[in-house]
Amino acid sequence: MNKKTVNDILQMKNVGHKIAALTCYDYVMAKILSSCGVDILLVGDSLATVKLGLDSTLPVTVENIIYHTQAVKRGNDGGALIVSDMPFLSYEASVKDAVYNAGRILKEGGANAVKVEGGAEIADKVSAIVKAKIPVAGHLGLTPQAVNKIGLKVQAKNETARQKLIEDAKILQDAGVFMLTLEAIPEDLAKKVTETLDIPTIGIGAGKYCDGQVLVSDDMLGMFIDFKPKFVKKYANLADTIKSAAEKYISEVKDGSFPAEENVYK
Ligand code: KIV
Repeated sequence: MNKKTVNDILQMKNVGHKIAALTCYDYVMAKILSSCGVDILLVGDSLATVKLGLDSTLPVTVENIIYHTQAVKRGNDGGALIVSDMPFLSYEASVKDAVYNAGRILKEGGANAVKVEGGAEIADKVSAIVKAKIPVAGHLGLTPQAVNKIGLKVQAKNETARQKLIEDAKILQDAGVFMLTLEAIPEDLAKKVTETLDIPTIGIGAGKYCDGQVLVSDDMLGMFIDFKPKFVKKYANLADTIKSAAEKYISEVKDGSFPAEENVYK
């Protein structure tokens, strides 16, 4: 099995191959998704909303991310690059915290890289983590860890905000990020950032000009049905599939047709 490296992801931009990323939080899904050839499995702090039913990503802990990264790593037969989110407050307070927590996510969780949200204000943390030989991905635009400041809406709609995002992207690249997630920003701005940077951009609600795309698996599989952002395309409707399987099971238990002969030890 060929394990993807950060250099493989960088090379994909150079040769014009699009990068496909999906979020993943457990062993079973890692086995399925990595066997399909997904390039990156992102252990996102979106696990707060889609797996734990929380209303923001803020409560996620480093321990949560390590636990889920370990499960994803065990299932990653296809050798996708595992990128794990650094949770809120695990890197903002000090450079020391940032390096230590990023290191734990690699050392104990088994991630290949970490992802952090923010621009110029976290550049010192990014370069310190990179110096510790830990690959770092950036995340600009709608950064859910800043929900209390910016909400959960499309970002960088005016000229000042557009210029700031371009500046932040360059600063992050200079600080050493190997890839940049762009969430919920206008397509033409994502195009400009993609053309400006040497590192790949991965869009989520940022249009088709990014070097790659990422979606939350539970959204694109139709498992998480509380709400559907405009940028999500549902490739399946697993909530309905699971519901009808569960209903059939319940009715067969009730009418005695399950377990059948073939399910019984003699
Ligand atoms: O946590 C997450 O799933 C993410 C993606 C939305 C990019 O950061």
